[in-house]
Amino acid sequence: MVFPEYRPRRMRQHETFRAMIRETRLSTEQMIYPLFVLPGKGIREEVSSMPGVFRYSVDQLVKEAKDCLAMGIRSVILFGLPEKKDGLGSGAYAKHGIVQRAVQELKNKVPDMTIVTDVCLCEYTDHGHCGCLAGQEIDNDATLELLAKTALSHAQAGADMVAPSDMMDGRISEIRTTLDEHSFHTVPIMSYAVKYASAFYGPFRDAAECSPQFGDRRSYQMDPANSREALREATLDVDEGADILMVKPALAYLDIISRLRDEFDLPIAAYQVSGEYAMIKAAAEKGWIDGERIMAESLIAIRRAGADIILTYFAKDMARLLAKTKG
Ligand code: PBG
Repeated sequence: MVFPEYRPRRMRQHETFRAMIRETRLSTEQMIYPLFVLPGKGIREEVSSMPGVFRYSVDQLVKEAKDCLAMGIRSVILFGLPEKKDGLGSGAYAKHGIVQRAVQELKNKVPDMTIVTDVCLCEYTDHGHCGCLAGQEIDNDATLELLAKTALSHAQAGADMVAPSDMMDGRISEIRTTLDEHSFHTVPIMSYAVKYASAFYGPFRDAAECSPQFGDRRSYQMDPANSREALREATLDVDEGADILMVKPALAYLDIISRLRDEFDLPIAAYQVSGEYAMIKAAAEKGWIDGERIMAESLIAIRRAGADIILTYFAKDMARLLAKTKG
């Protein structure tokens, strides 16, 4: 036998071989597209730090959802900007709140679209924290009841799945119990199980106007330095009844996605967050990188690490690219 005995390049010679042995693929079916909804009519305003991402009034949201569906994007996650904010985030669980109205309208007009709702208080509280306060502290247990009310109101409006992103202790079991008590046994919970206190959320906080007015989120979101703690968080959520475990952000936390994939048999989701999107868009706009290829490479990396589902602002761009290259 001549040296080298094995030549890996043999199977890289041309695209047919490469496609034949490709281990990971992307599909729009695995993507959830985040959408921001606000009160009013005829509104479609671009988020300045997220080119290509818009905030929609409900009527425009319906149009956008129809476009997404036509491109093969079958799931969206909704974030709401309420008319008014208050200390208890009451807009989050108002019967006719912005997300509740959006869900109803989408379910009516775009019934084939699967609607996930983000369950959190930070967009609805005047102080911008994800829970209600006792003094300057977040009151974990009082918040649970409000989160459960929020999830229930979303289910009552017709949401197909709820996704709590607050990081309070015990929220999955509180939400599961409340949903079950009201016969919403079939509504799954996609838990933001492992959510880090990350600077990558910067542009989202512009989009959703939810920066904390004092302090930061480090007393409830996780320390980026920790990975064993991620397993503990995920274990708790599994025990409490989560259906999907999410890791957030994605690209800087591929090791966490991979560990969760190895340790748990639930579906794993990863959220490629606003800052990840903004960095790629900004560098591409400057002509410093090939935005399309970096988008695709980042998304495939997130899948390769073990994510079944990706929440991404690139869903439409990626759907276009997949259609162009036929997968
Ligand atoms: C709300 C929430 C946030 C994101 C999703 N849900 C913001 C935060 O925790 O500060 C971030 C999403 C993104 O950056 O794209 N709790």
